[in-house]
Amino acid sequence: MLGETVETKMKVRKAVFPAAGLGTRFLPATKAQPKEMLSLVDKPLIQYGVEESIHSGMTNIIIVTGRGKSAIEDHFDVSFELEHLLEKSGKRELLAAVRNISDMIDVSYVRQKEALGLGHAVLRAKELVGDEPFAVVLADDVIDSEIPCLRQLLDVHDFYGASVVALMEVEPSRISAYGVVAADPIAHNGTGDRLYRIHNLVEKPKQGEAPSNLAIIGRYILTPEIFQSIESITPGTNGELQLTDALKHLLRSRPIYGLKFEGTRHDAGDKLGFLKATVEFALQRHDLGGPFREYLKTLSL
Ligand code: UTP
Repeated sequence: MLGETVETKMKVRKAVFPAAGLGTRFLPATKAQPKEMLSLVDKPLIQYGVEESIHSGMTNIIIVTGRGKSAIEDHFDVSFELEHLLEKSGKRELLAAVRNISDMIDVSYVRQKEALGLGHAVLRAKELVGDEPFAVVLADDVIDSEIPCLRQLLDVHDFYGASVVALMEVEPSRISAYGVVAADPIAHNGTGDRLYRIHNLVEKPKQGEAPSNLAIIGRYILTPEIFQSIESITPGTNGELQLTDALKHLLRSRPIYGLKFEGTRHDAGDKLGFLKATVEFALQRHDLGGPFREYLKTLSL
């Protein structure tokens, strides 16, 4: 394809989960536990992201932790006492669910002592990632889709060998909460008109100053040059090292693509978004959907 740079291709194996944010929108629930441990129906947000990563072919999970890190570590660890108790009482399905979590995947942890921004959190994973492309998953963006969102991005990365971010159209009144791109659509097999070549990025633009209505949401495939870019930038919006600013720096030397993914994104780091996601996920459950729907019908709304 004319004008498109095809870079060296390497398989993406590692997914980085920044989980060291302060979660101020969800206080007081997030005072002593990370928001990534809030549960949608019966699974913490971070487990939805880990399952999406596994279904997309990832084999290593790297979690960047801050306060309350033990809750996340315990969740992905083996719980001998709990397993013993469930085994003794014959609760086989629950036992399998608990074992599945610890059997799932290889998980490593790195600490971000101070919440200095998403870019800074990603940089903390530099040594564990090494010199290879990797995924970044913001677990409070829960994505309900037929093909896992990460897999959709990986298909683009596998073709171009470049960084790819997930994009979503956002109402003008909400756009200043996001990183926003200026981008041109490009033709690519299987993506309809959903693939873009990005030529600029702005973190949290003021309403009316956004370069488009295309916002970056919490799924990225990044090439390892991003670490150098994060190291080159200075703190931006809110005094934090912003990943969007690092992507803008990366654009000077590398192409970046954006894909309007297929699926529904729930902003579960926000109280209303979390409530909506809870209702939708509960209605989809084969064990709960029926009775829950009946209950909702009885509410005089
Ligand atoms: P958010 O922008 O949602 O910020 O972070 P936050 O602090 O977690 O939440 P609010 O806005 O105060 O309610 C996006 C993602 O980046 C991680 C968060 O954990 C979340 O997954 N993050 C953010 C870090 O790991 N470290 C940081 O310094 C900032």
